[in-house]
Amino acid sequence: MIVAPSLLAADFLHLEREVGMVNNSEADWLHLDIMDGAFVPNISFGFPVVEAVASVCRKPLDVHLMVERPEQWVERLARLGATFMNVHVETARHLHRTVQTIRDAGMRPAVTLCPATPIMLLEDIITDVDMVLLMSVNPGFGGQKFIPATIDRIKRLRELIDRTASHALIEVDGGINHATAAAVATAGADAVVAGTAVFGAPDPKAEIAFYHSL
Ligand code: DX5
Ligand code: ZN
Repeated sequence: MIVAPSLLAADFLHLEREVGMVNNSEADWLHLDIMDGAFVPNISFGFPVVEAVASVCRKPLDVHLMVERPEQWVERLARLGATFMNVHVETARHLHRTVQTIRDAGMRPAVTLCPATPIMLLEDIITDVDMVLLMSVNPGFGGQKFIPATIDRIKRLRELIDRTASHALIEVDGGINHATAAAVATAGADAVVAGTAVFGAPDPKAEIAFYHSL
């Protein structure tokens, strides 16, 4: 599977070392969680940190915006070289326009769903996006427990993608560990985000390699 370590769980006092570890690992992407304290009840880090990380990261950046009005950040994210821009469907009033703007800016558009947001809301956007990010916890914090209903949501999203001949990847974010990663892979996911599981492990590179091998 594709594996994207989430920097949210890294040691913020040693970010260069942590990004270096990811650079030298089998990670496919680096996942960056941006929070605004409005859409979610937490604030993580913002552009100065993301720009510094981007300057040393050799993996594609998978940027997850947990912010109100995400469309205002398209240009700035494109400029720092982000590969994926994930916007929550709950925040994007003009989702189609936002997705087009992201693609026109040279990034790969992805849409993100909170655990209670119906999969069927993607019906008319699924062929326009490169990825769907399914939250398997409520967004805002690392280290939470995987919500089991996510497994059925992955299966229903896989059906929608197959039925519409969409090329969208399915990425799952939150509460990933060895057991939940195996279950999401079986259900049809292409990618996992892993924060605590990677950065809290005694050997983070081996942990990344494990998810990569699924
Ligand atoms: C939560 C973030 C996740 C988070 C995952 O709002 O979107 O990316 O970092 O953390 P873990 O893997 O610890 O659940
Ligand atoms: Zn995330």
